[in-house]
Amino acid sequence: MPTLQLLLVKFGIRFVGVKLGILGLGTVGTGTVQLLQDNAGRHPLLRDVEIYRVGVRSLDKPRMVELPGAVLTTDLAAIVNDPQVDIVVEVIGGLEPARSLILKAIENGKHVVTANKAVISRFGDEIFTAANKAGVYVMLEAAVGGGIPVIQPLKQSLSVNRIHTVTGIVNGTTNYILTRMQTEGISFDDVLADAQKLGYAEADPTADVDGLDAADKIAILASLAFGGRIKLQDVYCEGIRQVSKTDIAYADKLGFVIKLLAIAKTVNLPPISPTLREATYASTPDHPISVRVHPTLVPKAHPLASINGVYNAILVEGEPIGQVMFFGPGAGAGATASAVSSDILNLVAALQTSTATPNPLLSCRHQDYCQITPLEELVTRFYTRFLTKDQPGVIGKLGTCFGKYSVSLESVVQTGFQGELAEIVVVTHDVREGDFRQALAEIRTLEAIDSIPSLLRVL
Ligand code: HSE
Repeated sequence: MPTLQLLLVKFGIRFVGVKLGILGLGTVGTGTVQLLQDNAGRHPLLRDVEIYRVGVRSLDKPRMVELPGAVLTTDLAAIVNDPQVDIVVEVIGGLEPARSLILKAIENGKHVVTANKAVISRFGDEIFTAANKAGVYVMLEAAVGGGIPVIQPLKQSLSVNRIHTVTGIVNGTTNYILTRMQTEGISFDDVLADAQKLGYAEADPTADVDGLDAADKIAILASLAFGGRIKLQDVYCEGIRQVSKTDIAYADKLGFVIKLLAIAKTVNLPPISPTLREATYASTPDHPISVRVHPTLVPKAHPLASINGVYNAILVEGEPIGQVMFFGPGAGAGATASAVSSDILNLVAALQTSTATPNPLLSCRHQDYCQITPLEELVTRFYTRFLTKDQPGVIGKLGTCFGKYSVSLESVVQTGFQGELAEIVVVTHDVREGDFRQALAEIRTLEAIDSIPSLLRVL
């Protein structure tokens, strides 16, 4: 904070004018400017915020907000280097130049607000190390769940709990697609094409439908919940392209809906003494966790089963709190602006009460990487659909093979045919993923098995 402001704070004089340098005036930037300009009825500290500079790609583009000509600039580097700027708000998205601009702002002693999950999940280590060294805060409420406040709750209110599971529907596009497949009985390709026409899905839907966006978000949530850094490459990621309307219909009959879940969960410890177990249980980077994104059969009675359309929800489970679920709009100008502005508000408050010691509830306290359990060690239930010859003994052979690898079956259903082939759907009890995959490899070699079109995990 500039010296004059520190002096004013020291003598109890409230200063006006925390200067923002906003990088980007797309959907989120525009929403944030609109919220800050229309500040009546919101927290009074927002009146102390001055939109000082806004960096854009083109000065000629028509805008939905009115800003004095001198505020807009195409020189983004000048914003992060301007000594007058107190807070840099990065809402340009993408990896570069976002990462470099954030790092430069930090180096210049500015606090940063970002909505950029891609940069944080990949370069969080570099960014937070630099921020801690410079004594500044990097705030990212808008990076996960759009308007849903989940980052600050994990950092503050919930951090007194031992968190053991974070389960989220954190991508609105895929939730919209799966909801329509479920309610209208239509295929992934048909819904995707329609969603693109309606503007619910991007022209290049890869980041959403292949689960990459959700993987960025669960890496961030896991890091906060389990108190360690996460390497994005350790997050198992499977999208929804292979989810078929046949599986959605079978899941429905069996009492499930299919959702793209992002899950971060402590892994069951082997049997050890209660004292040692207590000492190593959850919320320490020493405790192994699994972090993954995949389509999942969710029991219809589960709180996440009823989250439909573009909405997001994050269920946090811990001790002693039990279950807490956050629900709301995961994207959109107003929702994301709410999250960005809440970070700005926290920073204005921090600037106005600044001491030499950083507020530990706003800064990143992680030093070490979380220990991630390999997928084959995961213990979960599976749903599998087989196409087989319609002949005596096939179900028996499947059962024998599963039994050989300690895979216990919860249900076996044969209701349909595809041409000459019988369709058999199996749901297992909890099983080690490695054992299940070994059983499947052997089943694939059976003469009666035509193919295994689907393999999904069950919550
Ligand atoms: N593309 C994301 C979604 C929104 O579909 O939820 C931005 O994170």
